[in-house]
Amino acid sequence: MLLSRTLYRSVLVAMGLIMVSSVTASVSAEPSLERQKELIHLVKQDCGACHGMTLKGGLGPSLLPESLRNKSNEVLKQTILNGRPPTPMPPWRKFFSEDEVDWLVKLLRRGIG
Ligand code: HEC
Repeated sequence: MLLSRTLYRSVLVAMGLIMVSSVTASVSAEPSLERQKELIHLVKQDCGACHGMTLKGGLGPSLLPESLRNKSNEVLKQTILNGRPPTPMPPWRKFFSEDEVDWLVKLLRRGIG
C-alpha cells in the first residue's frame, strides 16, 4: 500500500516534469499579425529613438542585419530583455514577452526595411 502510494506520487511528478519540459521545449509562438505591426511600429519609434529611425545607429549601435551577423540570438535576446546596465540600453522585459523578443531578433536579422 505504502509502496503503491509512493509509486503513484512519483508517476504524478514525472508527468508534471514531462508537461513542463514539453511547454518550454515548444517552438516559440509568433505574435499575431496585429501585434507584429505594433512591434514593427514600436521598433521604429522607440528603438529608433536611440538606434536611429532606420536602425543605422545613433546613441545606440546599428541594428542592421550586417551589424548583428556575428552576435548570437541569445546575446541579442538578453540585451533586449534586460538592457545593458550601465549603458543607456534599457530593459524591455515589461513590454515584450520572450516569444515577442525571439520574433524581434528574427525581424532585426531580416531587416525592418
Ligand atoms: C535610450 C536609448 C536606447 C533605446 C530606447 C534602445 N536602445 Fe538598444 N542600445 C542602446 C545602447 C547605448 C546600446 C549599446 C550598449 C553597449 O554599449 O553595449 C544598445 C544596444 C542594443 C543591442 C545590442 C547590439 C549589439 O551590437 O550588441 C540591441 C540588440 C538593442 N540595443 C536593441 C534594442 C531594441 C530592440 C530596442 C527597442 C525595443 C532598443 N534597443 C532601444 C540604447 C538604446
